[in-house]
Amino acid sequence: MKVTIAGIGYVGLVTGVCLAEIGHEITCVDTDHKKISDLNKGESPIYEPGITELIKHNLAKGAIRFTTNSKQAYSFAEIIFISVGTPESDDGSANLQYIKEAAEEIGQSIRKNVIVVTKSTVPVGTNEKIKKWIENKITGRLKVSIVSNPEFLREGSAIYDTFNGDRIIIGAEDELSANIIGDLYKPFDLPIIKTDIRSAEMIKYASNAFLATKISFINEIANICEKVGANIEDVAQGIGKDSRIGSQFLSAGIGYGGSCFPKDTKALVQIAGDVHHRFELLESVIKVNNVQRNRLVHKAKEVLGPLAGKKAAILGLSFKPNTDDIREAASISMIEQLLAEKAEVFAFDPVVNGKIKALFPENIKLCTSIDEAITKADLCFIATEWNEIKEYPLVKFKDLMKEPFIFDGRNCFQLMEAEKFNLNYYSIGREP
Ligand code: UGA
Repeated sequence: MKVTIAGIGYVGLVTGVCLAEIGHEITCVDTDHKKISDLNKGESPIYEPGITELIKHNLAKGAIRFTTNSKQAYSFAEIIFISVGTPESDDGSANLQYIKEAAEEIGQSIRKNVIVVTKSTVPVGTNEKIKKWIENKITGRLKVSIVSNPEFLREGSAIYDTFNGDRIIIGAEDELSANIIGDLYKPFDLPIIKTDIRSAEMIKYASNAFLATKISFINEIANICEKVGANIEDVAQGIGKDSRIGSQFLSAGIGYGGSCFPKDTKALVQIAGDVHHRFELLESVIKVNNVQRNRLVHKAKEVLGPLAGKKAAILGLSFKPNTDDIREAASISMIEQLLAEKAEVFAFDPVVNGKIKALFPENIKLCTSIDEAITKADLCFIATEWNEIKEYPLVKFKDLMKEPFIFDGRNCFQLMEAEKFNLNYYSIGREP
């Protein structure tokens, strides 16, 4: 099928290359000229395992093209995906400005009947607005059907998730459109759930809110474990074996970050508030997460006293491994706290570089290796569980640091191992 994708961010690009891979004819549209010209050279604007190969392969096959000429791309499409950003507004709600702009342009440009599929995460009721925004701009007698098709892929495993997802949600206003979108996805051979548009919109928010709740729940249990002398990893394993609970998203740490959970949880609180329902459980989830992010620096102060003038290494800057995304990363609030404490910050990440420099242009030192970051450091924080960090020989902390005080926010090492090397090792939900 002929598909145009509006907005080549994370979701748009991954969707585009994966649909091209299964045989569709894809045109990707974005307003960013540099991004489009890089993509046409086979260069990915995001760090994501496997994506460059898929871009190059489908460019060579002629299955995908990248353009800024949105009008032309919309005019011949059978299906248009909207995957532009819905950033957070000041009040926590989702900002729909980019969606509205895309919808209006689609209305102005289409030359035949079209199915418009919304992949962007949008508040319940938005797809109905999208339809109106498009229809208001249509001249002539064209028909637009709207489908809500939320995305569940994770950064860092986005390609894998697209081919191996748990389900595809299709919220449609008519059976024919639902079936056409179902057929589009058929080669993925994944379970498809068809529903109405509003339920599909809610499924996306409820999924992310539930996963965020699991994380804040396990983090609170971890905080209690530390006080009562229990081990969070054993506890998580013990409860996760109950299939009603499930073992995933029970890794305790310094909280969830990224471009989705923080934004979507706040948006759902706002959506509930708009219909006069106070979502107190989710408000607590958010509060717990904000406190959790600051736990390690607090712990370091408890153990070492004032941190002023101390050399602090911080390992891992992205919000999770296998991505260069630092949006809402725990590392950022940790660096801010350390700088407020007047500590000297030496940071290392296997892929994050320029983005963190842009946030802290002068006051942190970016290192090119773990060795460099921890050499002569007074203390070391671990904010992201990259393999390179998890596999780092513990003996080196002892050899290179002034005195090995390690505050591990992602439980990268076994307690017994840390003990073997006489490290002062503090982690989450496990007694030192
Ligand atoms: C999340 C969802 O997992 C996807 O299903 C969804 O499509 C996506 O948001 C979205 O809405 O677009 P993502 O933000 O890429 O995906 O990352 P996750 O792997 O879910 O991790 C989010 C955060 O939770 C990370 O900071 C991670 O470190 C943290 N986390 C995750 C934990 O602290 N503990 C866990 O057990 C799992």
